[in-house]
Amino acid sequence: MIKVEGLTKRYARNVAVKNISFEVGQGEIVGFLGKNGAGKTTTMRVLTCFLPPTEGKASVAGFDVLDQPLEVKKRIGYLPETPPLYPEMEVSSYLAFVSRLKGIPSAEILKRVDEVCDRTGIAGVKHTIMSKLSKGYRQRVGIAQAIIHNPPVLILDEPTSGLDPQQQREARQLIASLSGDHTIILSTHILSEVEQSCSKVIIINNGEIVVSDSVANLHSRRRATELVSIEISGASPQAVKQRLEQVPGVARVVSRDSRDGTPAFEVESMENYLVRPDLARAVVQAGWNLTEMRVVGESLEEIFLELTKSEEAAPIAAAAVAAEVKEGAVTTQ
Ligand SMILES: Nc1ncnc2c1ncn2[C@@H]1O[C@H](COP(=O)(O)OP(=O)(O)OP(=O)(O)O)[C@@H](O)[C@H]1O
Ligand SMILES: [Mg+2]
Repeated sequence: MIKVEGLTKRYARNVAVKNISFEVGQGEIVGFLGKNGAGKTTTMRVLTCFLPPTEGKASVAGFDVLDQPLEVKKRIGYLPETPPLYPEMEVSSYLAFVSRLKGIPSAEILKRVDEVCDRTGIAGVKHTIMSKLSKGYRQRVGIAQAIIHNPPVLILDEPTSGLDPQQQREARQLIASLSGDHTIILSTHILSEVEQSCSKVIIINNGEIVVSDSVANLHSRRRATELVSIEISGASPQAVKQRLEQVPGVARVVSRDSRDGTPAFEVESMENYLVRPDLARAVVQAGWNLTEMRVVGESLEEIFLELTKSEEAAPIAAAAVAAEVKEGAVTTQ
């Protein structure tokens, strides 16, 4: 449904997006993740025909953003970072105005406005002037204007930014309810949002894609070695460290700061070893108290932080994953 091939976008001398390629299939919900300034909004602006690409191609439903922008715009609903609202207008007149801009026939406009108001939960504020709306409701009106012409593709730039946890949950539910009929790209800084709402994740760093994969694959590809955080009371740290190092499959034991002086460690397994049962057994057999044991290094947050570390500290893993992604990606060369 969406195809980006070798896309580069330069602002004067600043390269915001460097030769990125990805595809989004019909009905997929893709989470676009990246730190501030990574290039998310820029990519979205190119896809929505607000900015021309410097190099490369982007198409929506087979229509090129440069050659057939009108066809692309017809098929896209866009929620920009700041929703394009007119503070002095009532919600319903604004949505009617947007409907006319988007070419909805006059006879259908009222019905359509009512439908999107119901769908986005803003029927109660239809006659409110937009400057009086809370941030959450403004965001909903932003989503309402994006879906008013029932486009097959939705591009939502940080749809839950600035919302309180309750509003975030409602916005996520709204997006989930739209997912059946629409292909969606949403950008966010909230990693749990990607895990909850998206089938696929694209992580972009300094204008380059470092990962493009399903959320499930992203978790499982990290599981070759296990990193376990463990806290043990009732023994000296040295004795515990020595004992843990003897557990079969343990590659490395590193002491770490604990909350209250209880000896705490990070234990890394050798490849393809599950060390937790043996660790637990070793601790109990020694007569110590196991106060905490949890797996680290698997959460999307940790994966994200590792992949988007600054260049100087860039781990080899990130380069390897990036190479993998590039191999599988469509390029114009
Ligand atoms: N109009 C512009 N003129 C010049 N440089 C720009 C412009 N818009 C964005 N940039 C630069 O392009 C890069 C990518 O910005 P972009 O807004 O796409 O990032 P982003 O991933 O959306 O960040 P955020 O999470 O903060 O919204 C940044 O270095 C930014 O400073
Ligand atoms: Mg942005």
